[in-house]
Amino acid sequence: MTAVIAIDGPSASGKGTVAARVAAALGMDYLDSGALYRLTALAAQQQNLAWDDEAAVAGVAAALDVVFADSQILLKGVDVSAAIRQEIIGMGASQVAKHPQVRTALLARQQAFAGERGLVADGRDMGSVVFPDAALKIFLTATAEERARRRALQLNIDLASEQYQAIVNDIKQRDFNDINRSVAPLQQLPDAYLLDTTELSIENAVKKVLEWYQQV
Ligand code: DC
Repeated sequence: MTAVIAIDGPSASGKGTVAARVAAALGMDYLDSGALYRLTALAAQQQNLAWDDEAAVAGVAAALDVVFADSQILLKGVDVSAAIRQEIIGMGASQVAKHPQVRTALLARQQAFAGERGLVADGRDMGSVVFPDAALKIFLTATAEERARRRALQLNIDLASEQYQAIVNDIKQRDFNDINRSVAPLQQLPDAYLLDTTELSIENAVKKVLEWYQQV
């Protein structure tokens, strides 16, 4: 069976960066499952569909014409890697991700990423739903304030500003949504290792994951 490393955690925890680096270090493939929810939200928007129209959005998810090519993500042949990172599409992603039919429509597509090279997958339900038999499960997190600080630094926002406080609030709201939704909520599984990166660099977080993987 293909080896899978499942890395789940809240928004802006750095799990994407850690997962991509672990995959590169081990020569495995990488799945950014959040990108599929973002792509679904973007494609629905392009088709003028409301994000709360579960059946219609599930149809969009099932029919997504997407190619992950190195640093590019192509939707119907168009590079949308920047477009799906917009704040509004993040909001749309969190709305479409609440629908069970959408999650079901994306399930097999996510599982198909697990090929011969092995896979590092990041998201919210990698260890619980998509890859419950993963060789290694990690819950990667950091405090909301630290995650907001990192995002503010990326966006050149002053940590004493109201804008920073708005980021903290936004992150807390997303955490609340992800943890409290009825399907596939964000949770730390009993069989997952906790990796708190509040005071840990990306390099050390990657090292820790590689160490754990050697032990399984
Ligand atoms: O990780 P991200 O910010 O790109 O995820 C975007 C949204 O998709 C987020 O609101 C939660 C949702 N998501 C999910 O429900 N399940 C996943 N496996 C990955 C993301």
